Amino acid sequence: MNRVYIKTYGCQMNERDSEEVAALLRARGYAFVDHEDDADIVLLNTCSVRDQAEQKAIGKAGRLARRKRKEPNFILGVMGCMAQNRGGAILDSLPDLDLLIGTQKFHRVPEHLDAMIETMRGQGPRPSTVIDLEEEAGSQNTIKGHDVEGGPKVSAFVSIMQGCNMKCAYCIVPKTRGAERGRPIDAIIEEVEQLAANGTREVTLLGQIVNQYGIREFPFVDGKSPFVQLLERVHAVDGIERIRFTSPHPVGFKQDLIDCYGRLPKLCEYVHFPMQSGSDRILKAMRRPYSIAKFKSIIAALRAVRPDVYLSTDVIVGFPGETEEDFEATRQVFCELGFDMAFIFKYSPRLGTTAEELGDPVPKAVKEARNQILLNHLSERSLARNQQLVGSVQEVLVEEPARRGENLYTGRTRGFRRVVFPGSARLVGQLVPVLIHEATASTLSGELVLGGLEESEGGGVSDAAQAAQSAPASATH
Ligand code: 5AD
Ligand code: SF4
Repeated sequence: MNRVYIKTYGCQMNERDSEEVAALLRARGYAFVDHEDDADIVLLNTCSVRDQAEQKAIGKAGRLARRKRKEPNFILGVMGCMAQNRGGAILDSLPDLDLLIGTQKFHRVPEHLDAMIETMRGQGPRPSTVIDLEEEAGSQNTIKGHDVEGGPKVSAFVSIMQGCNMKCAYCIVPKTRGAERGRPIDAIIEEVEQLAANGTREVTLLGQIVNQYGIREFPFVDGKSPFVQLLERVHAVDGIERIRFTSPHPVGFKQDLIDCYGRLPKLCEYVHFPMQSGSDRILKAMRRPYSIAKFKSIIAALRAVRPDVYLSTDVIVGFPGETEEDFEATRQVFCELGFDMAFIFKYSPRLGTTAEELGDPVPKAVKEARNQILLNHLSERSLARNQQLVGSVQEVLVEEPARRGENLYTGRTRGFRRVVFPGSARLVGQLVPVLIHEATASTLSGELVLGGLEESEGGGVSDAAQAAQSAPASATH
């Protein structure tokens, strides 16, 4: 009666929230299964950033709701951004839902489930849908637990803040996640120390705009923003070998943060840096408060400090009013900056955003064509750049056995390239040197070297690449 399956849609913030729910439920005695068919309780953690993501979750919930008719004790919940975005209206099409849990209420899932199961055991009437969508002061502090069942997590996400105060015209996130609010530095550090004690070697700090972290709550110290102070504190945690974060915003990406790439060796030289458009006219229409010249100047400053930095970005094609000239500007900047990775999205109108009133005038076929042009650039570049890594030795953090192939293990380089190589379980959680033999656009393969990393590090680290579309979606903006 208490086997759970959680399906997560969307970004790393959602993955992290699902982990939190799993950790809380496991601590209360719930068990987890690998497939929804074996579960008594299915929770869908949803995404609203594009219509397609919502439609997928609605389709899945509809199919699962049919199962409820045959199995009255089966419990079905919808959590996260779509629950928050659509609210009780979801019940018009999905009246059989048991739980509707908002983005500030993940920590209350166990008590709702306990109560529901208790009522069902008592053979009482089927409880009515639990709708818990309110704002809750301090909810950013509730995403802090990690599920250690199944061994140490080599690489872990840490939510440092929630919400966003920007008003990008296309974006639903401020509505679904609320206003920006950070966790105290000490609480974050405690979580990171606990992770390190449990075997975690890499942390990725998550937030809608991480470089805005604590900007209103905590002071600058010696010209360093609260986010830079946080990076320094995480850097000092023994056992943590690598630090990443996602996503930063061009506004507030200042020299104090750029300098970190020169002085904090654990900070991986990989930056996900959302551009959204290469046209100043469209950036303005999107209410992104920077020019493309400013965006480029930040990248130049980063490359001045860390010439081998890997760059990733988000681009939206087909925003209302995007002309051929606007798109051509995007295409040119995209090629010029040489992103190692990119997430390219076709514009999807969202109710309640300021762009809603602009409609969706760019035809689907045009969006599709623009999307494809950028993807083609990316994959050509990815393959060529990954091929330049062949013959170099890369430092790899070993994560887990590869899905296919006997005795093959997988991990990532500092630049976030996935590497597959013959290894053993003993290596999981270690940083090992791997000589790269082969490259596709998305994956490198190689073999362990016994001699260490020193000999051939220079073999094109800055030119590594990866096909973007095989990677998980970026954090929310
Ligand atoms: N349509 C298409 N893409 C969007 N994104 C956010 N909102 C929309 C939308 N309405 C993209 C942005 C953001 C990423 C997570 O999703 O590029 O950075
Ligand atoms: Fe905030 Fe990012 Fe959405 Fe803009 S795109 S409103 S910065 S979450």
